[in-house]
Amino acid sequence: MRKKIVAGNWKMNNTLSQSISLVENIIKLLKEKPIMQSELCVVIAPPFISLEKVGNMINGHKEVFLSAQNCHSEIKGAYTGEVSVPMLKEIGCNYVIIGHSERRAYFNENDETLAKKTNALLKEDLIPIFCCGELLIERQAGNQEKIVKSQLNNALFHLSKEQIKKVVIAYEPVWAIGTGVTATSAQAQEMHAFIRKVIAEKYGTDCAEEITILYGGSCNAKNAQELFANADVDGGLIGGASLIAEDFINIIHANK
Ligand code: PGA
Repeated sequence: MRKKIVAGNWKMNNTLSQSISLVENIIKLLKEKPIMQSELCVVIAPPFISLEKVGNMINGHKEVFLSAQNCHSEIKGAYTGEVSVPMLKEIGCNYVIIGHSERRAYFNENDETLAKKTNALLKEDLIPIFCCGELLIERQAGNQEKIVKSQLNNALFHLSKEQIKKVVIAYEPVWAIGTGVTATSAQAQEMHAFIRKVIAEKYGTDCAEEITILYGGSCNAKNAQELFANADVDGGLIGGASLIAEDFINIIHANK
């Protein structure tokens, strides 16, 4: 059975002290309303400077995992301001979000770079959460499947079958991110099923069935249950709503 995940992408929110208090609240609520690691993984992606502290705080909570929001593709070197995969691994990261639409839009992250980041992560046994998704204008033109297929093809399809099974995919239609406009449950299922079909064509159905595909884009405590009820939606990558402990916990419980 494939892994269910609810991941909180805090983006550039929360100072260290704010991160500490949010994680304290999340842990407190998870103790009151526990989940089993066999049911679901919770992933928390704070800003770089809070990673180590948050990692220490979730230590001992087997169902909660640490993620970075980005990494560099090189192991080390003269890349001022960047953070490498071995650095993230040493402080306890299990996951790294790559290819988020904000990074594609503001930091020129492209599929070629993402292919390299994926390689760097898998080499160190970290799990990439690979984001893909179309712009509004692309959906309006009916090109959403073409766009997502090319993102998968260019950034991931050089991987072997064993490698791609380790990748988590997050479908995040750009028009739904931070806008309050969520994809309908049917739109989410349609694209998730398409992604699984494209993977099946390249790697076989057994492989496609094993890959976790998350939905992201204005997912909240009200709409999560309906989105997660779809056969091909294995959880969510949550932005805004992951900054409020109660909402995040309700979203987690919507995926059981
Ligand atoms: P949002 O962000 O939930 O605030 O729309 C999702 C994301 O960017 O991962």
